[in-house]
Amino acid sequence: MAGQGGSSAGGRGVVISDNWPGYSLDLFTYPQHYYGDLEYVLIPHGIIVDRTERLAKDIMQDIGDNDIVVLCVLKGGYKFCADLVEHIKNLSRNSERFISMKVDFVRLKSYHNDQSMQDMQIIGGDDLSKLTGKNVLIVEPQGCSQSGWESQSFPQAPNSCIQLSTQQCPWGTAHHRAVADDIVGTGRTMKVLLNNIEKYKPKMIKVASLLVKRTSRPDGYRPDYYGFEIPDLFVVGYALDYNEHFRDLNHICVINDHGKTKYRV
Ligand code: HPA
Ligand code: MG
Repeated sequence: MAGQGGSSAGGRGVVISDNWPGYSLDLFTYPQHYYGDLEYVLIPHGIIVDRTERLAKDIMQDIGDNDIVVLCVLKGGYKFCADLVEHIKNLSRNSERFISMKVDFVRLKSYHNDQSMQDMQIIGGDDLSKLTGKNVLIVEPQGCSQSGWESQSFPQAPNSCIQLSTQQCPWGTAHHRAVADDIVGTGRTMKVLLNNIEKYKPKMIKVASLLVKRTSRPDGYRPDYYGFEIPDLFVVGYALDYNEHFRDLNHICVINDHGKTKYRV
């Protein structure tokens, strides 16, 4: 994105710098029910889609000789996944390589109990054993970030915080509650998913993330492909939510205080 502190292909994705002021909301259209709730547009929808097309090309170049099982991480990953799959299909149609793709969905839930133990569960999706011998592409809205989400001024904190333990999650008991599942908040979260999948011996696993937040990364995890490196901001739109709102917004935006208050639970 020109004029906003640098962009680069490949390596770090499109880098959106900390001092990028965003685009004025007046320059775009967005649902009327969000008027007054947003601060600015961080990434317009068109740029997301164009960048996703390039990721599709990179993915095709790397693994396009093989059939792919796409594992979409819900809910926040659904738009990115839909666009990515569409682009891969188009590229494959227009090339010599015709790859077959299967798409499946998983949801990661983290539960937090009174003792501050947190656990993650993978729910939904086919039996993971179907991934044996397959080329698996995990598609998630956001890659690695810092594990200490509480330290940031997230409107949802500590709900946005996922910290993992390997303990069994006593699913659904009264003092367990769901916490963030949209943005896979930590590299550790993704590592748990990867470890689970690896048990079934897929031929290959790659991870594609739309966003990577610029925070310290204690576990050094980075997705194989990602669209944008963004400042440490709470973002909504393009399937990313604030308390289940804003998923229907096309652009990736930053909410304002009015929006945070209006949709606070
Ligand atoms: N947006 C939406 N959900 C989230 C975010 C975010 O920036 N961070 C953690 N959960
Ligand atoms: Mg969410």
